Amino acid sequence: MEKILIVDDEAFIRENLERILSEDGYRPLSTESPDEAVRFVAEEEISLVLLDLNLGNHSGLDVLRAMKEVDPDILVIIITGYGTVESAVEALKIGAYDYIKKPFKADAIHLIVKLALETQNLRRKVKRLSKEADGINMIGNSAALLQIFRQIREVAKHETATVLITGESGTGKELVAQAIHNLSPRSERPFVEINCGSLPFNLLESELFGHERGAFTDAKTRKIGLFEESDSGSIFLDEIGEMDMSLQVKLLRVLEDRKIRRLGGNRNIDINVRIISATNVDFKAAIERKEFREDLYYRLNVFPIHIPPLRDRREDIPVLLEYFLLRFSKEFNKAMKGFSRESLDLMMRYHWPGNVRELRNVVERICIMHNAEQIRSEHLPREIWGETPQSEIPFSCEIPPEGIVLDDVVGQIEKNLVEKAFQITGGNVAKTARILNVPRGTLRYKLEKYLLTSD
Ligand SMILES: Nc1ncnc2c1ncn2[C@@H]1O[C@H](COP(=O)(O)OP(=O)(O)OP(=O)(O)O)[C@@H](O)[C@H]1O
Ligand SMILES: [Mg+2]
Repeated sequence: MEKILIVDDEAFIRENLERILSEDGYRPLSTESPDEAVRFVAEEEISLVLLDLNLGNHSGLDVLRAMKEVDPDILVIIITGYGTVESAVEALKIGAYDYIKKPFKADAIHLIVKLALETQNLRRKVKRLSKEADGINMIGNSAALLQIFRQIREVAKHETATVLITGESGTGKELVAQAIHNLSPRSERPFVEINCGSLPFNLLESELFGHERGAFTDAKTRKIGLFEESDSGSIFLDEIGEMDMSLQVKLLRVLEDRKIRRLGGNRNIDINVRIISATNVDFKAAIERKEFREDLYYRLNVFPIHIPPLRDRREDIPVLLEYFLLRFSKEFNKAMKGFSRESLDLMMRYHWPGNVRELRNVVERICIMHNAEQIRSEHLPREIWGETPQSEIPFSCEIPPEGIVLDDVVGQIEKNLVEKAFQITGGNVAKTARILNVPRGTLRYKLEKYLLTSD
């Protein structure tokens, strides 16, 4: 049971808060003494503090500072009376999570506490995940991603093992390539990357292999190619699927002999480089279309790592959202704290064709354009909304020859739907109102009308 500490000098407020919090299944502890409050934070496992700013002779700000000294991560919501909003803003700077004004409604407390604890849990998770993923700059807790972390660690140890990373655009192939290099014994050596899809054949060839002076008209000086530059390090051949067939033959030879020859040169140079390549094209189909050499594919695919699209590992969505929200709200100096349940639901359902890159961009754009504390559905781009079938009419009714009484039929359908929704949510009025998209007051009226009980 999560413990919540209430610090207020008015007994009436303390009792009121205790009652509200107990209703939600939390265990409230309360005190009016600043010293005792700080001791609680030091000695008890407190999940959250509700702190009055105006504590008789004491300033809540001092108490907040003392608490933060004892536990810098302690989650504190400030309760502020009339005229102390400025101090509340000051409190946010010291590290309070949020503030709520007096007089408050029970519902507001239910909501703010729930949101704060959810955010805190997610933050802890993100922190833990970043620690666990030590050296791997990727966030995620799906089974698929954890398996990829293991693969990265394993293959990193084998210095020269050739790796092929596959996955749709934006799934994190480049991050995986970097992680393999960073965790390998070669981490101090160069990590050189080149996009094989961005250069025409002859430019790519001379980039990779280098050339001797006079090798071709523009070759005024000798140039060292990327294979040589990345010696004893790693070379990342991105979008390898785009590589020209004739260059594929040359690459195959490099993989077989571990030697290169500069253009216009006449001696072979030994190279000691780990080759990591990545693609978002379907190799099997490319091989069938004779656009990619099968023998090269087998040479590249010694250690395959496949990153599934985000829609196939949806558990990663909430932690990624939280991670990018923290990052961008800091970067743009905003106080955005979390996502509403509805907005999270929408994003969990969305199919993310652009994968993590798209998710990152969505959060970044919201952080730039809005200033709300909580990201709500209306802040999300249209395409994310588009996935919910809103205009679809789920059923149709026949009209018999004698006609119908419209109000009765509509009433029947409405009753049926309200009943169903009520069952789905286990009788929770707030949730029922949400999935039916009606205000709570309207729902209460309908529950009474159809004699459905909310108890
Ligand atoms: N698991 C993750 N955790 C944190 N950030 C991620 C994760 N996966 C991807 N990203 C971010 O998403 C963006 C796209 O990642 P990356 O460039 O590695 O994708 P890619 O698979 O190489 O895409 P493309 O095929 O388009 O080149 C980057 O900003 C990257 O930092
Ligand atoms: Mg990439």
